[in-house]
Amino acid sequence: MMFKVVAFSVVLLLCFHKTLGVRMSFDNGNFDASWSYSQDFDELYFEVNAKTSGWVGFGFTFTPENMSNYDVVIGGQTDWGQSYFYDYLTSGVGIPHLDSKQSYILDKATEQQGITSLRFHRKRNTNDSQDIQFNISTRVFIVWAYQEMDDVNNPRMFSMHTRKGYSEETQILAIEASEPTFSTKKFVKTEPGNTSRFEMTTKLLKAKSSGFKQRFNVITLSFVTITLYFLLALQFAC
Ligand SMILES: *[C@@H]1O[C@H](CO)[C@@H](O)[C@H](O)[C@H]1NC(C)=O
Ligand SMILES: *[C@@H]1O[C@H](CO)[C@@H](O)[C@H](O)[C@H]1NC(C)=O
Ligand SMILES: *[C@@H]1O[C@H](CO)[C@@H](O)[C@H](O)[C@H]1NC(C)=O
Ligand SMILES: *[C@@H]1O[C@H](CO)[C@@H](O)[C@H](O)[C@H]1NC(C)=O
Repeated sequence: MMFKVVAFSVVLLLCFHKTLGVRMSFDNGNFDASWSYSQDFDELYFEVNAKTSGWVGFGFTFTPENMSNYDVVIGGQTDWGQSYFYDYLTSGVGIPHLDSKQSYILDKATEQQGITSLRFHRKRNTNDSQDIQFNISTRVFIVWAYQEMDDVNNPRMFSMHTRKGYSEETQILAIEASEPTFSTKKFVKTEPGNTSRFEMTTKLLKAKSSGFKQRFNVITLSFVTITLYFLLALQFAC
């Protein structure tokens, strides 16, 4: 009996402690990025937060040196509240080339209290030679950059980054970090469309950062389980 309770609680703990999404921090915490992959939609979801009122750039490359062949997006919000977001391919140091096909979709760009946030998604395979295509074994360096002051008013001519860098190690993006929770999955299945996908990403990312809440849920669930077992045991005893 006790063994069963313990075993069940352990299973619960394991289920709820699977990590959701991947998160990386760059530039001493001034630039945070998180992402997740959904097998159901075959799409990658991203959230980037940078301490800047200027533009924010984020992307991938096999060759991090010399700024060549970076598949990147650049986005932000202007001082008058207009969102902008573009898909580029770099070919060396200098202003990157705007992709002829814009394969990344902006869900939301905001600038609040000095933090510019971008949420966006793309297909795993965009079928676009100007993008990096991901499969289960594709390893890429994560590249990041931002401009501390200036926004992009002209996508073909804008101020150079003030800060930039890339991940020390390569990452595999196209693997599902974990199954979304049941409620999330149901929500997505019943209401397909951009909003719910966006919600799902948000949920996935939020779940990652709310470790405390999860632990709380685990405790609550374990308590409920134990109570149920006792009630069941009582019933048999009577
Ligand atoms: C980057 O550029 C420098 C200077 O042009 C060159 O020496 C170096 O080989 C380049 N690195 C790569 C990986 O292409
Ligand atoms: C991929 O792009 C090529 C043209 O570049 C097109 O002929 C083909 O139909 C596309 N495939 C899909 C699955 O969209
Ligand atoms: C996966 O992507 C890599 C490039 O990242 C490529 O070299 C490899 O051939 C791809 N594998 C499959 C099975 O498509
Ligand atoms: C989702 O977004 C795309 C591009 O922004 C748009 O073309 C499409 O109509 C949207 N779909 C739904 C269900 O809102």
